[in-house]
Amino acid sequence: MLKVLRKPLISGLALALLLPAGMNTSAAETTKNEQSPSALTVPSIAERYKKSFTIGAAVEPYQLQGTDAQVLKRHYNSIVAENIMKPINIQPEEGKFNFEEADKIVKFAKENGMDIRFHNLVWHSQVPEWFFLDENGKPMVDETDANQRAKNKKLLLKRLETHIKTIVKRYKDDVKSWDVVNEVIDDSPQNERGLRESAWYKITGDEYIKVAFETAKRYAAKDAKLYINDYNTEVTPKRTYLYNLVKDMLAQGVPIDGVGHQSHIQIGWPSLQDTEDSINMFADLGLDNQITELDLSLYGWPPRPAFPTYADITADRLQAQAAKYDALFQLYEKLGDKISNVTFWGIADNHTWLDDRAKQYNDGVGKDAPFVFDPEYNVKPAYWAIMD
Ligand code: GLA
Repeated sequence: MLKVLRKPLISGLALALLLPAGMNTSAAETTKNEQSPSALTVPSIAERYKKSFTIGAAVEPYQLQGTDAQVLKRHYNSIVAENIMKPINIQPEEGKFNFEEADKIVKFAKENGMDIRFHNLVWHSQVPEWFFLDENGKPMVDETDANQRAKNKKLLLKRLETHIKTIVKRYKDDVKSWDVVNEVIDDSPQNERGLRESAWYKITGDEYIKVAFETAKRYAAKDAKLYINDYNTEVTPKRTYLYNLVKDMLAQGVPIDGVGHQSHIQIGWPSLQDTEDSINMFADLGLDNQITELDLSLYGWPPRPAFPTYADITADRLQAQAAKYDALFQLYEKLGDKISNVTFWGIADNHTWLDDRAKQYNDGVGKDAPFVFDPEYNVKPAYWAIMD
């Protein structure tokens, strides 16, 4: 239940009003800066949930220092790269692997005893074009000649294998969970299996999925787990397509260990019942579940005209968000033996991809606030809600 919410720590304005007369602004600033944000003094979220699952955060390398790093160390025992391990960053040109930024995250995680999720080995987005060009630079998807199509398919699968093998071998001893494929199911499918008609699919059918898992399995640590990751996994028909695909792949011996539920969700959507049903469905197939990209937007979707974004966020919205977080984490805890990790898609409300989305659809107006820490790393009502 949502209990009485603790009083927020003193705000900057209140602090200024309390300062002795004559204290100048820079002195006031110094005093303010010396105060730790409340995220650094309250109990650890990871500690609170350690009996059920690990708690993760998505990060950019610049967040591995300063207050971000302190908050990470206190509250999270798992980490994932928000962007820098995606194909476009790791292998921007064929054969030119770029591990510098990814290595920073791996080093930080190891130094601080955190689990690492790798996101992601295969995706239709943030993937460089060269993967899908034939030896003559022609887009493989445009090929009509059957012989050349067969050659292209072979070449693409070979490139995929090389990409996965190189990465997995490098991080074999460090990564516990691999997002092997991301978003292979379509929300508005063009085919009866609901498979996304990406370049991967157009060139190889569903074989890229099999090759991806088989290659990852071949090189990953014995106890590492391989995930198929997607958004809107709670709702039909998408979750049914995903379920059927996974069931079919498992029957063929494809080594899938679990489903990653991205969980880019909103206060009013999806329902808790759908969320619970989805976790149970995949657990019944013998699979693990991870909540891989959790952020709880204040807004509906699509934002306009039904759900405008706000220039200022009101207290009642934060309370509504806290109530949803409360119910959600109660559910996760209840299903704790079927969920091994819950990862937030960020650390605090000062850095979230949802801000761009809110602005894009509302003429630049709007700030989202999807996490349990505010932009200054103070706790929000949602923090207390999940800590009860
Ligand atoms: C998807 C991807 C993530 C991220 C978000 C938006 O969920 O899996 O890597 O790009 O979109 O930030």
